[in-house]
Amino acid sequence: MPIFLIPVAIIVGIFIFTVLFGAPYVPSRNAELQKAFKNLYPLSKKDLLIDLGSGDGKVLKVASEFGARSVGVELNPILVFISKLRLRKNKNTTVVCRDYFHYDFPAETSVVYVFSEDRDMPKMVRHIEKQAKQIGHPIYLISHAFEVTGYKAEKTYRAYYLYKIKEAK
Ligand SMILES: C[S@@+](CC[C@H](N)C(=O)[O-])C[C@H]1O[C@@H](n2cnc3c(N)ncnc32)[C@H](O)[C@@H]1O
Repeated sequence: MPIFLIPVAIIVGIFIFTVLFGAPYVPSRNAELQKAFKNLYPLSKKDLLIDLGSGDGKVLKVASEFGARSVGVELNPILVFISKLRLRKNKNTTVVCRDYFHYDFPAETSVVYVFSEDRDMPKMVRHIEKQAKQIGHPIYLISHAFEVTGYKAEKTYRAYYLYKIKEAK
């Protein structure tokens, strides 16, 4: 393989590797996101939002425009690097390079954003239920594109669904 193709192969390899652990990288759309938050869950300074699988940090950026604090959890180190670069001036956002199924939520977490895939949603919801139990209060979940089996959405806006996830028993 020509030497200049090695970095390209590494980058492609990282993206393929990430897909083995969850949803592929497909970013949410900015204008839609803002409307979704306004309609479903108007964020404020009191909120701490977690984006599970935070991609390039777009959701964190929108959350910070509403004054909310936010944490992005992303497995792909290239996307973590890009989002940290993009959010370097946003003091109220953090990005961690971690598998979201092994991430413990901060106690102040009020809302979680997920743009995952159908296959992962039941496991994702069980994880959020366990985290809700650990922090001692329910957590709102905004799921983009996928509905949650066993829960009735409190509100919907286009392909965005708002749920109140209760503590695991
Ligand atoms: C559909 S994208 C959504 C990106 C972003 N949340 C948005 O809406 O613009 C899903 C993201 O989840 C990440 N991902 C997949 N599996 C993961 C895992 N197990 N832990 C952390 N991140 C993961 C992917 O790398 C990808 O960036």
